[in-house]
Amino acid sequence: APTKYFDFDVSEDYGAPDCVEKVIRLINNEWPPKPMHVNTGDNVVITVRNKLFTESLTVHIHGLLFKGAPWADGAPHITQEPLPPGKEQVLSFNVGDQVGTYFAHAHNNLQELSVYTPFIVHDDNMEMQALGYHDERIITLSDNYHRDTDALMAGLRGPQYRWTGDAQSLLTNGIGSFQGPCSIRPDGQPYPSSWSITEVQPGRTYRLRIINAAALGYFQFQISGHRMVVVEADGMLIEPFEIEALTINSGQRYSVLLTTDQPPQDYWVNHQIIWRRTGPQNGWSLLRYTSANIPFGAIPVVPSVLPPRLPEVPDYMERFLLPRLNDPRGVVPPATRQLMFRFRSQASPATESRVRWTFNERDWRDPVNTIMLMQKLGQLRTPQDAAHGQVVHLRRGEVIDVIMQGQTNQMGVCEDHPIHLHGHGFWDLGSGPGTFINEQAPPVPSVAVFRDTTTVYAYSNLNAAAAAPPGTDCGWRRFRFVADNPGAWLLHCHIPAHLVNGMAAAFLEIPEDIPAPPSDINNWRPISF
Ligand code: C2O
Repeated sequence: APTKYFDFDVSEDYGAPDCVEKVIRLINNEWPPKPMHVNTGDNVVITVRNKLFTESLTVHIHGLLFKGAPWADGAPHITQEPLPPGKEQVLSFNVGDQVGTYFAHAHNNLQELSVYTPFIVHDDNMEMQALGYHDERIITLSDNYHRDTDALMAGLRGPQYRWTGDAQSLLTNGIGSFQGPCSIRPDGQPYPSSWSITEVQPGRTYRLRIINAAALGYFQFQISGHRMVVVEADGMLIEPFEIEALTINSGQRYSVLLTTDQPPQDYWVNHQIIWRRTGPQNGWSLLRYTSANIPFGAIPVVPSVLPPRLPEVPDYMERFLLPRLNDPRGVVPPATRQLMFRFRSQASPATESRVRWTFNERDWRDPVNTIMLMQKLGQLRTPQDAAHGQVVHLRRGEVIDVIMQGQTNQMGVCEDHPIHLHGHGFWDLGSGPGTFINEQAPPVPSVAVFRDTTTVYAYSNLNAAAAAPPGTDCGWRRFRFVADNPGAWLLHCHIPAHLVNGMAAAFLEIPEDIPAPPSDINNWRPISF
């Protein structure tokens, strides 16, 4: 198989992704960074260099399975210790038969929210034929805080506990506008644009690969004047269905087909937060039809008045999400073991005042040693030895039914949570309000969409008065996966501010078959110039 080489240098500098200056992180000296493109079956070699001033780093590619290469997963303290500043490391793996839309992001502390870029696995002949599109565009949706990540981290982990609050702006492909258009940077140079522009030609069909890389935003995504046909969810082709508003949670990806059959001009594209409605309302970008009058790359003429907020639609996509007919990956096997994770936030014991997010009453804290390495060295007597949080041992071939039971937080409020599993896709088997009870649960469907990030719904409004004591059941989500990938894999909330307060557990899967670690594991080279 061909080998694709990438550099992934992470550094920091002043920047203003939404016209307000702050310290930002760059990938390969750029923001926004360039997407990474590979083909099915490629070997991939990524040299990660930590050029940050103080913070250790890991890089994870969200949704990839890392079969046979679990050491490349980038889960901090699980598959490696974080890479210190001034060091470099090589991640190498084969993408196997995976195809579709993924993204690379940093994973230590709150790095998810500031370091991310699309990672696309192409399989052109098959996909072009199957989906019938001319070309494709990537639209990465995210959010942006004006405080830098150190300040946010100090609030979450410090003794006084300060919630991050809402982001200040919503970005598209890494840029946006806090309060209307900005034209002059603090250094006096003009910005190329305050809004991201997706250029298309009239009379064609495009595949838009939409990625939610947000820290907090659960988004509704719409393109004015156009409907979309949804064809991919988290790397799986699905039975196409038409929609006017896509709902997408942090960590999820969809591809939609867009036909450019409207009069050639600019169209507003909007992503808005559908659940934490106190959040920013500036998630705008432009879809531009290029033509003789509006040539490719033209300086944008941006309307000075923003369109009004679009009506919020409920997340009705879920009921349409079905695997393609005859796709054997969609067939759900019977479970051999059920695991229940009850999660909630609670105040810490008197010795510390910060909030802990617990899975089955245990919050994940960075263990002192890499779990997988300890296993390999025989120092892990029981999986639980590794960490303060929960580590569940899985045996080869087990079919694991996971129930995520959401509970009220320390304020007695139910919240929406995007839940992501490393190292696996899973059959997403539905959700319901209240308490999960096996005998009363809806029947498990015989086919289901196979994805890697799903939502445990709040089933109530964020602003509803705290009606229940902390730890009351809000709603549940069920999914299922086969233990067939030796490694140690994180299961966590994809809201980084919840993750850093412990909202995670890990699976130690088929440990006897975990391959030997790379020779430089946890003993990183200095950056070579
Ligand atoms: Cu995109 Cu562990 O996350």
